[in-house]
Amino acid sequence: MNASENPTSAIFDKVHIFDTTLRDGEQSPGASMNTEEKLEIARQLVRLGVDVIEAGFPISSPGDFESVRRIGAEVGDAAIVCGLSRAVPKDIEVAADALTTAARPRIHTGIGVSESHLRDKLRITEETAIERAVAAVKLARAFVGDVEFYAEDAGRAVPAFLYRMIEAAIGAGATVVNIPDTTGYTYPEEFGALIGGLFEHVRGIEDVTISVHCHNDLGMATANALAGVKAGARQVECTINGIGERAGNTAMEEVVMALRSRREYFGADTTINTREITRASRLVSNITGILVQPNKSIVGANAFAHSSGIHQDGVLKERSTYEIIDPADVGVGGSAIVLTARSGRAALRHRLDQLGYELAEEEFERVYAEFLELADKKKEVYDEDLETLVSESERTSVGEVYHLQTLHVMCGDPGIPTATVELVEVATDEHLIDSSHGTGPVDAVYRAINRMIEVENDLIEFSVQSVTRGIDALGEVTIRVRSGDGRVFTGRGAHSDIITASARAYVNALNRLLVAERPSVGDEV
Ligand code: KIV
Ligand code: ZN
Repeated sequence: MNASENPTSAIFDKVHIFDTTLRDGEQSPGASMNTEEKLEIARQLVRLGVDVIEAGFPISSPGDFESVRRIGAEVGDAAIVCGLSRAVPKDIEVAADALTTAARPRIHTGIGVSESHLRDKLRITEETAIERAVAAVKLARAFVGDVEFYAEDAGRAVPAFLYRMIEAAIGAGATVVNIPDTTGYTYPEEFGALIGGLFEHVRGIEDVTISVHCHNDLGMATANALAGVKAGARQVECTINGIGERAGNTAMEEVVMALRSRREYFGADTTINTREITRASRLVSNITGILVQPNKSIVGANAFAHSSGIHQDGVLKERSTYEIIDPADVGVGGSAIVLTARSGRAALRHRLDQLGYELAEEEFERVYAEFLELADKKKEVYDEDLETLVSESERTSVGEVYHLQTLHVMCGDPGIPTATVELVEVATDEHLIDSSHGTGPVDAVYRAINRMIEVENDLIEFSVQSVTRGIDALGEVTIRVRSGDGRVFTGRGAHSDIITASARAYVNALNRLLVAERPSVGDEV
């Protein structure tokens, strides 16, 4: 079965995906979104097939209230729509009001359970906290049938108190119990043990779904969420690209692809349409302005890019040698072979094939040599560079009378631009060297060439343009020369040094002129 397909087999338990990009994700500094933007993301979450969309915290602002209402109306029964509240009656009433548009509403309510939260934030006893939690769940149940209770900072709670709190919340009517590692404090083994402990110590736990909500302060969010799944949690709270408060939340794409790729190991999977992952990632990044780091798992620009020659060779022979996920399964066009100085002939030939070039062995070797020279100067060689190299090679291989061997230019301000050029006469293999000065470096080069190739011509056009991106881009020079009898010849040359590109272009134009002037076979001489 293809990895992007939904699990159909009964052997995999379903893990529900609770997306909180629009609530916890929006808590990322600078990520606030307007209602229209949230709606756009909600539509994409529906395409992904998430089970729950946490659409906002309705009491926190009129904008959040409106977003929850609009998303509830838009989503219909495609997903549960959830609104956050504290264990405060007004919060719950406002959340319930915002959710009246939703076909499948859920109220998410809860309270802090760690010693730190009880003592320093809420300043209440454990008993008061339990009373408030029970009252909140009961009130929420009066509005909706689906109530999720969160035990904030459960990762740092005393387990015995956590068990009492959860048992009380279940008794009050909670249908889902959320165990957040709010501060991202725990390690996978600990967090897994915390979830496992609930099954052993909490009465009624088998009647509810356990949810895990992990933060990434120590880089453990995905690992902890998966440890929770391994221990029996069947809902994971996550955000697209892992955005969220401080260091963020569990990244949805990571947890979904981990479960999809290793479902035999977990005995569980989600029903997410993984082919929508990349689109979701780009949308969230565009809307929030939070860029995705290139080496980010699953959705980073380099997630399927192979740079080392050894890896490229392997992937070209069989993708799975260095890829555990088919890029198509997450909606990426395909693996990218990044051509660098470490790439070998196999990678270059493959890319040229894809670009539609079928080069004979000799020409391929010429292009490969040029490619290596360019790759030494540039970090990455792009398709446009290759196209230029190939046409450059075609140009120079056809009718080459003189070949530009070496070029040395001195210029500056103040200074007299001076060029020394070495040409090879191809037919005789004779090396010619000459120098000249000029008004500028290109003029000096052209004068030096003229001293060796004595053919009447006028330079009538000179243009230079960058073929690819960046300061190290290939420059392509196009020139036109008029011969003594008035005919016009075009020459092109490309190089990362535009003076060299200019010299190549000039030699190319003169070669064409000379070939045109040569008597053809059969001509009378
Ligand atoms: O991190 C957290 O504890 C939360 C809760 C509100 C669920 O975001
Ligand atoms: Zn959170």
